[in-house]
Amino acid sequence: MTAFRPRVLTGDRPTGPLHLGHYFGSLQNRVRLQAEGAELFVVIADYQVLTDRDVADRLGDHVRELVLDYLAVGIDPARSVIFTHSAVPALNQLLLPFLSLVSTAELQRNPTVKDEIAHSRQAQVSGLMLTYPVHQAADILFCKAHLVPVGQDQLPHLEATRTIARRFNARYASGTSPFFPEPEALLSAMPQLLGTDGGKMSKSRGNAIALGASEDETARLIRSARTDVERRIGYDPERRPEVSSLLTLAALCLGRDPHSVAEELGDGGASALKTLVTEAVNEHLRPIRERRAELAQDPGHLREVLARGNARADEVARRTLAEVLEVMGMRY
Ligand code: TRP
Repeated sequence: MTAFRPRVLTGDRPTGPLHLGHYFGSLQNRVRLQAEGAELFVVIADYQVLTDRDVADRLGDHVRELVLDYLAVGIDPARSVIFTHSAVPALNQLLLPFLSLVSTAELQRNPTVKDEIAHSRQAQVSGLMLTYPVHQAADILFCKAHLVPVGQDQLPHLEATRTIARRFNARYASGTSPFFPEPEALLSAMPQLLGTDGGKMSKSRGNAIALGASEDETARLIRSARTDVERRIGYDPERRPEVSSLLTLAALCLGRDPHSVAEELGDGGASALKTLVTEAVNEHLRPIRERRAELAQDPGHLREVLARGNARADEVARRTLAEVLEVMGMRY
């Protein structure tokens, strides 16, 4: 008997190493889905790096770092597919028919894109900035994914993908069972972790604790984290977001409830809180970091993992593109 294996696709931009927000927000979900038997595809979205900046620098380093992070947290290349979009031409070609299915007004309305334009480091807004959600639809639909584990900010892109799938099916492949399944977003239940400056934890803001950071660096970053002046530690995300985020982080690492961690700390103040968080994070990440350091010794293996993932993604994308051209009447 062959059990139904749901397909899961998600990915990251190669702009720097992954951090604790990615880990608790998405990477753990990926590893869990993989363990439950899903067929997991992870795209390293190298073309997407060019959306909000004029130059993609150190792409090679960032791609290697992402592969390292993935393997270190337990994404298993024997069961899952890790690939870069630049290596899969048939995926990129899906962009053309998909672009024909959305209006310019729709592209301009996307709230995540609007936000990115506001924070862009580009001299001008490029065509790629406006159209990358359609390219992201190609990332998701090339493998006919059922499930997409993402953060809240990606929901508009998922909605665009669902719209494109529906319109494609209606225009070219109505009647039969849906050609493209409409993929579902899988949001993590995690409350958002804040960066050390109290803002959103983000690679580009320098306020994030990288998975691969050393224990000393982790300690230094947590020591520098913004807190407040109340001595009594309490979990209250509305009123005390910074302290609560640190409690959340400790609780996630320790598998405990943040209220109980707060109670244990009592009147200990911020310094006791930071000591506890540092130990919890370093303890929790130790095996992952050890594995990461080991894997980093073998760049040939990383290249091989990517080459195999690229080959598998290419095979899947070619098949989908052939079917797409078939239903569009473009097989001459
Ligand atoms: N846009 C995502 C991010 O910035 C990365 C990404 C690219 C992605 N393609 C994807 C996420 C497909 C989910 C599905 O983090």
